[in-house]
Amino acid sequence: MDTIEPHLDATGVAGGADESPSGDAPTPPTIRRVSRAEAATTVEPLQAYAFGTTPTVPTSDEPAAPAEEEDDKVRLVAFDGAEPSAVVVGIPMRQNVRGVILPMMGVSGVATHPAARRRGHIRTLLTQLHETMRDAGHVVSTLYPFRPSFYERFGYVGFPMPRRIRLFPDGLDRLLRADAIPGEVTLHRIGEALDEFRQALEHLLLERHGFSLYSPEAMARYRSKDDRWVALARHDGEVVGVLLYRSHGLGKDFEGHQLLTRGPLGRMLLLRWLARHHDQHAAFTLELPPDERPDLWYVDIRYTDETKVAGPLHSAPMGRVLSVPGLAGLRVGAARATVEVVDDPFVAGTWTFDGSTGSLEVRSGGTPTATLTSHGLAALVYGVLDPTEIHLRGYGTMDAATAQTLRTLFPAATPYLYASF
Ligand SMILES: CC(C)(COP(=O)(O)OP(=O)(O)OC[C@H]1O[C@@H](n2cnc3c(N)ncnc32)[C@H](O)[C@@H]1OP(=O)(O)O)[C@@H](O)C(=O)NCCC(=O)NCCS
Repeated sequence: MDTIEPHLDATGVAGGADESPSGDAPTPPTIRRVSRAEAATTVEPLQAYAFGTTPTVPTSDEPAAPAEEEDDKVRLVAFDGAEPSAVVVGIPMRQNVRGVILPMMGVSGVATHPAARRRGHIRTLLTQLHETMRDAGHVVSTLYPFRPSFYERFGYVGFPMPRRIRLFPDGLDRLLRADAIPGEVTLHRIGEALDEFRQALEHLLLERHGFSLYSPEAMARYRSKDDRWVALARHDGEVVGVLLYRSHGLGKDFEGHQLLTRGPLGRMLLLRWLARHHDQHAAFTLELPPDERPDLWYVDIRYTDETKVAGPLHSAPMGRVLSVPGLAGLRVGAARATVEVVDDPFVAGTWTFDGSTGSLEVRSGGTPTATLTSHGLAALVYGVLDPTEIHLRGYGTMDAATAQTLRTLFPAATPYLYASF
């Protein structure tokens, strides 16, 4: 379903209007959560117009798609009269933040009908979505921005961009003779190895800062499409690395997804697997966590870094905190600081953070020695900006002693979100 109805304003004229006919302020939209069944006529046309190739040619003989089962996504729609004008979707997910698995909201499908843009619909919807999901227990929120400055307005801070590399076969064959690498790699169609793939992702969720998983239903799509290979690297029976990929034929590129490893052994096993293809493929394309160092992988390595940072399609993810008390328990450094968070409907207040036991304790109140915006707080929690950068970027103010305390409490870290949505 990708048709979008002509947008009628209060006067019934297509094209929308910024003001009512009398020149009064425009009537505020009605905001409502819609079910998955209702999404077909409200959410999907707006999203198809914003993100898809439209219009499509109607096909009368196409059988109606079966009704989708209800899911746990929160779809909020703004209606101008009866017309759906804007939509935001919140996806309940889990994310590792400094060693603790937190309920996280993934924001997705943000779109407004062109006639209704710049009237504050998304500001209203996103604020309500944040509140709804925070009240349902979500502690943090992440998204992939079309333009980071748009979501900066909503308290989000940028994460580092995962790297994309094109690895050439030079030097790889040397790994074929690396007998010191214990373990083995087995090859499967993803349809038959989905459960093991999922289990490996669950391990990564426990082990890697920033990592998040999409829903089991989304995973099931891998099984139904079944158009990827998965290489599983094992040591002592445990999966230590996974790589999904697709081959495009002799002399062509090997199209790898994310190189997911639980440490150096998993990486070496997978690289040795690639080495077995060194005369079969021109190059291997891979996505890497932002802290990977391919330059140190092996002698004579040759690759080009093709990491691209450019909205709307190649933006690094962003994140923010929705609930400060929900951060209790994060694994942090042994220090104590009181900060005042300002200019935000969800995290504003004075908070004392105590990491003396290694597990964060959060208390409301105290005498603050630093002021932070929501971005400054998120930057500390995710470890993406040093306190000095927070200060210089306008995300907070603090003296040098507090900067040092915050640096100890929230050491620099590299979140790797993984899930895309
Ligand atoms: C991006 C989009 C969703 C904005 O919707 P909207 O209803 O016009 O947004 P709002 O009117 O609520 O604007 C919210 C704020 O962002 C600002 N803003 C709106 N569009 C903007 C843009 N393209 N770039 C930068 N800022 C923008 C507004 O001025 C407003 O600021 P303020 O509330 O601080 O004063 C809409 O333009 C759209 O559907 N675009 C195509 C699809 C898309 O890119 N979706 C985002 C995917 S991540």
